[in-house]
Amino acid sequence: MRKWYYPWYSYITPVNFWMQGHIDEGRAEFDMSSWGRRRAKWQHHKAKGSIELLKEGEMPLPSYTWLHPQARLSVEERAALANFFSDLDPGKVGREER
Ligand code: HEM
Repeated sequence: MRKWYYPWYSYITPVNFWMQGHIDEGRAEFDMSSWGRRRAKWQHHKAKGSIELLKEGEMPLPSYTWLHPQARLSVEERAALANFFSDLDPGKVGREER
């Protein structure tokens, strides 16, 4: 079940368009809830991309964490999440591409 909470400033134009744009774009690029239905190649690409983006500090999107301090990640949390994606990466265990 998907649930997203929209804060008060999300109802102010143009903040709402700007924010919705990022949410839509982020979901279009990478919707984790579809993970289990995806091909190994897609999973590998996103796992690898997530590890890189986490290490470079590009995700979670800085303009998002600026408004949502609770979504900021410490160095340890970044490393834990990177390890999580590494474990999920089918490329790592040499599984066949489907
Ligand atoms: C730990 C949390 C997050 C991870 C691991 C993550 C990971 C990713 C990945 C793997 C992509 C796709 C890159 C590609 O395949 O080319 C992506 C794209 C994107 N994400 Fe995130 N994301 C996170 C949080 C967020 C948040 C909180 C937002 C803001 C609401 C966001 C907004 C976007 C946007 C706008 C894109 C598409 C444009 C771009 O690549 O910059 N992400 N993210």
